[in-house]
Amino acid sequence: MIEARLCDLVSRVALTRTTMDKGLPTPAHNNPARRPHHRSRRAWRLLLAVLCLAVLQSATNLFYAERSTRNSQIPVNAQEILNKCALLNVQPGPPLDFNLRKQSDRFVAGTRPTLIRNASIWTGRVDGLEVLHGDVLLDGGLIKRVGQVEQDVLDAYNDLVIIEAAGAWVSPGIVDMHSHHGVDSSPELQGAEDSNSLKGVAQPWLRALDGLNTHSDAYKLSIAGGITTVLVLPGSANAIGGQGVVIKLRPTDARTPTGLMLENPWEINGTLYDPSVSLRWRQMKYACGENPSRVYGFTRMDTTWSFRQSYETARKIKVSQDEYCAKATAGEWTGLGAFPEDLQWEALVDVLRGRVKVHNHCYETVDLDDMVRLTNEFKFSIAAFHHAHETYLVSDMLKKAYGHPPAVALFATNARYKREAYRGSEFAPRILAENGLSVIMKSDHPVLDSRFLLYEAQQAHYYGLPANLALASVTSTPATVMGLDHRIGYIKPGYDADIVLWDSHPLALGATPKQVWIDGVAQLEHPYTVTKPPAAQHVPEPPNFDKEAEAALRYEGLPPLEPEHTKSNFIVFRNVSSVYRRQGQSVKEVFRASAAGGEGIVVTSEGKVVCAGSAAECPSSLYDARAEILNLAGGAVAPGLVTYGSPLGLEEITAEDSTIDGYALDPLTDTIPEIIGGRSAVAAAVDGLQFGTRDALLAYRAGVTTAVVAPQSYGFLAGLSAAFSPGAKHKLEKGAIVQQAAALHISIHYDAGPSVSTQIAALRALFRMEVRRPLGNLIEKVKKGELILVVDVESADIMASLIELKKDIEDREGNTIKMTFAGASEAHLLAKEISEGGIGVLLTRPRPFPMTWEQRRIMPGLPLSETSAITALMDQNVTVGIGIEEAWQARNTRWDASWAALESGGEISKAEALALASVHVEHLLGVEVEDIESDLIATYGGDPLELSSKVVGIISPRRGVVDLL
Ligand SMILES: *[C@@H]1O[C@H](CO)[C@@H](O)[C@H](O)[C@H]1NC(C)=O
Ligand SMILES: *[C@@H]1O[C@H](CO)[C@@H](O)[C@H](O)[C@H]1NC(C)=O
Ligand SMILES: *[C@@H]1O[C@H](CO)[C@@H](O)[C@H](O)[C@H]1NC(C)=O
Ligand SMILES: *[C@@H]1O[C@H](CO)[C@@H](O)[C@H](O)[C@H]1NC(C)=O
Repeated sequence: MIEARLCDLVSRVALTRTTMDKGLPTPAHNNPARRPHHRSRRAWRLLLAVLCLAVLQSATNLFYAERSTRNSQIPVNAQEILNKCALLNVQPGPPLDFNLRKQSDRFVAGTRPTLIRNASIWTGRVDGLEVLHGDVLLDGGLIKRVGQVEQDVLDAYNDLVIIEAAGAWVSPGIVDMHSHHGVDSSPELQGAEDSNSLKGVAQPWLRALDGLNTHSDAYKLSIAGGITTVLVLPGSANAIGGQGVVIKLRPTDARTPTGLMLENPWEINGTLYDPSVSLRWRQMKYACGENPSRVYGFTRMDTTWSFRQSYETARKIKVSQDEYCAKATAGEWTGLGAFPEDLQWEALVDVLRGRVKVHNHCYETVDLDDMVRLTNEFKFSIAAFHHAHETYLVSDMLKKAYGHPPAVALFATNARYKREAYRGSEFAPRILAENGLSVIMKSDHPVLDSRFLLYEAQQAHYYGLPANLALASVTSTPATVMGLDHRIGYIKPGYDADIVLWDSHPLALGATPKQVWIDGVAQLEHPYTVTKPPAAQHVPEPPNFDKEAEAALRYEGLPPLEPEHTKSNFIVFRNVSSVYRRQGQSVKEVFRASAAGGEGIVVTSEGKVVCAGSAAECPSSLYDARAEILNLAGGAVAPGLVTYGSPLGLEEITAEDSTIDGYALDPLTDTIPEIIGGRSAVAAAVDGLQFGTRDALLAYRAGVTTAVVAPQSYGFLAGLSAAFSPGAKHKLEKGAIVQQAAALHISIHYDAGPSVSTQIAALRALFRMEVRRPLGNLIEKVKKGELILVVDVESADIMASLIELKKDIEDREGNTIKMTFAGASEAHLLAKEISEGGIGVLLTRPRPFPMTWEQRRIMPGLPLSETSAITALMDQNVTVGIGIEEAWQARNTRWDASWAALESGGEISKAEALALASVHVEHLLGVEVEDIESDLIATYGGDPLELSSKVVGIISPRRGVVDLL
C-alpha cells in the first residue's frame, strides 16, 4: 500500500534526523539556544506520524470495505492492530501546541497569580548565560512573563500576590535526576524499603511508581532546599532495576503517588503504558559492576550477559512486531495470528524503539566500555551514566555510544566508598564539560540529602565547572536529559511555574530558598530567612585548579597527594587579610588588614610563627634573604581544622574489607577471647591507624590538620580514640600522633541488638561494679573526670536517660564526669538540660537529616526553622563541635563550618565558625594541644570559609615544618 510505504518513509526520515541530532559532536541538548529547532523537529515528526495514522486509518477503512467480502482472515480487531503498528516508531514528546497551553495540567484551582518583582533572574537560556533583571509573572501553574511585565498585563489581575525580590536571585526549580524519594523513605523503616527487588537481575517491568511511599519527611525537606522535581529511580541492586518515575515534590490534595507524577508514560486512570495516549518519555534504571555482582554473586561477565540476554529477548519481540506490522499494513493477514507483545518486556522493547531514557548506574572504565559496546550491539541510547566516577578518564569512549553521548550524572566530592569510586575526582565535572559532555549533579537521595543538591553544583563550580554549566547541571541539563525541557528546568514563558527565590547567588555557599513555588503554589508557609553578606550575592570566584585537574588525568585519578615539606628555614606569607589564632577554647581574629590599613605578614621559621601582623610589625629584618615568600592574595592564616565522626584513618575504601581496620568486638554481644582481656578488653584506634589514605591526604590538603578517630564498632563499646595528623606518612613520623588516647567511646542506639535499657544498664553497671583492667582503669578515670566519655547517641530520650545517669554517678562519686554526645541529631530538644548537665555536643550531621527513627526530630534549619541545631545549643551555652559521618566528607570541613556561620545570620562569627570545627572538637574529645603547638593553615585568595580560597600551606609547630601544597 502506498500509504504504508509513505509512512515507512516518514519514519525513516524521522529516524535519520534523530540520528543526526544525536550524532552531533557537541550534544544538541547541551546548547539551550538550539533547543527550539530540536523541539520543533520532534513535534514535526509527531505531527507526521499522526497524519500518517489518519491517512492509514481512512485507507484501511476503504481497504476493509473492499476486502472484507473477499478475505475472511482479517481479524475483527484489525483496526486496533493497525493503530498499534502505526505508533511503533512514534517518538515521545509533548503535543505540538504544548507551549500554547494557558494553564498547566497540574494547576491547583484557586492558586492566586504571583508577581515576583525586581529579581535577578537566571533563566537557563543561552547556554545558561542569560541573566535578566526584572519580574516573573506566574499564573495558571505556568510562567506567564519574564523580564519587564507591562502594566496593562498586571492591571488585568485583581488578586495578584506581589513578592518584592529587591534584586534577589531567582532560578528555575532544582531538578534532581537521581533520587530514591519515597522508595527509600525517611526516616528509614523496614516497612518502606522498596527500592531494590531481589527477584531477578534484569526486570525492566518493575516500576518505582508502584513503590512510591507518600509518607517520607524528605519531600518537605527537599523542597526547603529548592528541589521541585525529582526522578525517582529503583535501586541499583539489579542490572535492570526497573522504570523510574518523575515526580514533583509538592503535596497535592489527592495525597497519592499518582498525584505527584509529572508527565509519565502510564495512563492516569489505568496502569498500562499506551503510546497512543501517553507519548511520554519513559525512564529506566540500569546498574553495572559491583552492585549486581555483590547482590547476585555475579561477575561482570554474568551481568553483561544478563543485559545481552534481556536485550535479545526484547530485540526478538521488536523484530517480530515490525515484521508483523509490515504484513498487516500490507493487508497480508492470513496466518498472521495475534500481535506479538509481552507485558514483561514491552518496556525494554521501547528502549530499542528509542522511547526510553536509560539511566545507567555505571562507574568503572570496564563497565562503561561494556555498556557502550552493548548500545552499539543492540542499537539503543543511554541518556546518562550515573555516579560514573571514571567517565572523565574516557570521554572519547563515551562519544562512541550509540545515538548520542550519554550525559554524566555525578557527585561533587563523594568518592572512594568502593573500588569503583576509588578514582573519583572532584575535577570530573570540569573535565567532562571541557570534552563537550553534559554534566549533571545528582544526590542519589538519601545517599546525599537531595535538599542540598545545589551544594554539589557549588562544589563542582569551585573545582572548575563554569558557573553557567554548574547551574544548568541541576536545572536545565537534567530537565533536557529526562526529555522534560519543554516544561521544566528553565524560566521561560509557558513553562511550569517552578521557581526558587534565593537568599544569595545560587552558587554561593549556603544559598537557601526564601520561597519555592511549584506549579505556581508557594511551598514555604513561614520561611525563616537571614541576611547573607553582600559578597554572597555574586558568583564566587573559584581558585585555579588547572594543575590538579591535569594531574587527575595524568595519574588516572590517583595523583600524588603527599605534601611537600619546605626546605627553607623561613617561610613568609604576605598579603594576608586576616590572622586567626586559637586562644584556649576559642578562636580569635588577631589581625585584620583592613583595620591595620595594610597587608598582613606572617613569618614562620621551622614551623613556628615568629611574627604575625602588619608590615611594620613584621619587617624583613626578621628573616634572611633565602626566605621563601608567598603572596596569599588576600588570604588568611587560621587554625588547622579538626575532623571527627568518620573512620578516616582506619580505612581506605569503605566497601573493601581488605582495606579497613574492621570492627571492635563488643562485650554486650560478642564472645571476647581471654587473651585480650575478655569482657574488659578495650581496643585503641591508635593501633589500627593507616596513614596516607587518600581521604586523609585530601582532608589535609583542605586544611584538616588533626583527625580524631574511635575504633569502628557496631555495638556498645568502641574503645579509645586517637588523634593524628592526616598529612603524616606513618605513625612513627615526628608529630604524626597528636594524642595516643583521646576519649573512651560507647554507643547507645535502638536496633543495636540488646535493648536500649540493656545498654543503659550496662553503662550503669560499669560505673558501679568492679571492672577488671584495662576497661576498669579507664572507667575509674572517667569517674574522676580525667577521661571524657563520648556517647554516640541520636535520640533525645536516650540522652535524657544519660543525663540522669551522669548526675547519679556524680552524686555518688562526688566528681564531675566529662561527657560528650556525638551524633546527637535530637540534642536541640534537650539543649537546656544538656547545658545544665555539663555535657558537650558534637553534631556529626551539622545539616541534619532524619535518616533513622531516632534522628527523626531534627531541627531542620533555614528556611524551616529560625535556629539551627547548632545555634539552638549554643544559645544554651552548650559547647558545640561539628563533625562528619563518612571519611570523604573530611575535606569539606571548612564548608560545613562556613555553612553554620552563614545560616546563623551573623550570630556565629567567622572566628566562632572556625572554633566549631577545631578547638571545640578537640575539647569535646579530650584532645589536649597547647595553643602554641597547634597547626595553622594558610589560604590563598580568601579565608578558609570562602568558596574562593585554596589551602596552600600548613604551618606545624608540632612537627617543626611548613608544608606547601
Ligand atoms: C530593585 O532592587 C534593588 C536592590 O534592592 C533596588 O536598589 C532597586 O531600587 C529596586 N528597583 C525597583 C524598581 O524596585
Ligand atoms: C479518569 O477517569 C475519570 C472517571 O472515568 C474521568 O472522568 C477522567 O477524565 C479520567 N482522566 C484521565 C486523565 O483519563
Ligand atoms: C593582595 O591581594 C589582592 C587580592 O588578590 C590584590 O588585589 C593585591 O594587589 C595584593 N596586594 C599585594 C601587595 O600583593
Ligand atoms: C550563657 O553564658 C552567658 C555568658 O556567661 C550568660 O550571660 C548567659 O546567661 C548564658 N545563657 C544561658 C541560657 O545560660
